[in-house]
Amino acid sequence: MILLPLALLALQEAPPANVDWDKEFGTEERVRDPVTGEFPVDPYVQGNDNAEARQFEGNEMAANFGGKDGIRRIAERTVDLSREDPRIAGIFVAHDMARLKRTLFEQFCFILNAGCDYTGRDMATAHAGMGVRKRDMNALVENLQQAMREGNVPFAAQNRLLAKLAPMSKEIIAR
Ligand code: HEM
Repeated sequence: MILLPLALLALQEAPPANVDWDKEFGTEERVRDPVTGEFPVDPYVQGNDNAEARQFEGNEMAANFGGKDGIRRIAERTVDLSREDPRIAGIFVAHDMARLKRTLFEQFCFILNAGCDYTGRDMATAHAGMGVRKRDMNALVENLQQAMREGNVPFAAQNRLLAKLAPMSKEIIAR
């Protein structure tokens, strides 16, 4: 009889000091790559097919966007405007903006035939579980249009890029 209270007392003892609580709770800290500044992502097959659009021919479109430098400015500006845009800022919280700026640049650069390969994920994988709505897409397109205007991209060239991106909506919009 006296054994029962003793057993209960033993169960209440503090756990040993060397418990790895991250392991116990199944959480682990993600660490940025010291060279790229990006968080690692799950493995995937790389290839320009993931860009989900055919390249323009010739170098006219690349020139209209100011070459690689111009394209990089426009991609990064689109990301920055979207992160500051109260309509969609919440979707970008806790995502890796260093990686998004690089991969969005690569995707535009590849499509505009400015001499890049796209190394990012396909659109369905990249946006899975984000719950992007049609109105979120419209907001992002407005930000891209502003970035292209600021980059002095001729209006017709802006629309030619948008026409390449439009079919991706069905992979990105979730509801
Ligand atoms: C045609 C329109 C769009 C294009 C071309 C596009 C392109 C991309 C690309 C290239 C990536 C990176 C893929 C990778 O990490 O491997 C990405 C990721 C992402 N996109 Fe989009 N996107 C579009 C629309 C949107 C919209 C409408 C939103 C939200 C309003 C959005 C939010 C994000 C976020 C938060 C990530 C980061 C995902 C992560 O951290 O894993 N995108 N997108």
